[in-house]
Amino acid sequence: MSISIVDHPVAAALLTRLRDKNTAVEEFRQRLDALTFLLVSEALADAACVPVPVETPLGPAEGSRLEPMPAIVPVLRAGLGMLDAALRLLPAAPVGFIGMRRIETPDGVGHERYLESLPSVLENRPVLVLDPMLATGGSAAEVIRVLAASGVGPVTMVCALAAPEGVAALQGSASNVRVVTAAIDSHLDERAFIVPGLGDAGDRLYGLA
Ligand code: PRP
Repeated sequence: MSISIVDHPVAAALLTRLRDKNTAVEEFRQRLDALTFLLVSEALADAACVPVPVETPLGPAEGSRLEPMPAIVPVLRAGLGMLDAALRLLPAAPVGFIGMRRIETPDGVGHERYLESLPSVLENRPVLVLDPMLATGGSAAEVIRVLAASGVGPVTMVCALAAPEGVAALQGSASNVRVVTAAIDSHLDERAFIVPGLGDAGDRLYGLA
């Protein structure tokens, strides 16, 4: 597993607005969208390309296009808030969906997959998984397992925030995965929330916090 931390002043400023408990839902959505644009740009920095000739108004030029076109998989709910930004960069990308929810149990946090919609066109394509939070890594590990079973190509997890515990979990279990994030925070609390984090991304994104 490799990890890229996007070290960019605009990303840091956007993440600060997401962290602020007084940031209202409209701004939260806008800032997550803008941060995703930067994160996905970084995630695609090494994307495979093929040369394409192009005619400009002044004559021929050498261009390029992404080949194969990466696929996008938002993890419901919160990952849906990142989809529009990813599609602005990759308007021709095929999209699949996975729904995951965390369940608090007396023994800790469990993870339940309640939706899987992965069309066969995703096979062998590089996949960008969108999820704002990598906390314990349990959701990501299940998503990566399901994607591998579906025959997709290399997987990049695109996250606004990660916890050291989640990074360590993926390092132990997901060797061929890249994580792109804006920050790795301090730790998880007793409810497995990222500290200092930004709270519950899904609740804040959908006006429930
Ligand atoms: C959050 C987040 C990740 C997951 C991270 O989703 O969006 O999917 O938790 O935690 P983990 O690393 O411990 O798995 P949640 O389960 O709260 O669902 P939501 O997207 O519907 O809010």
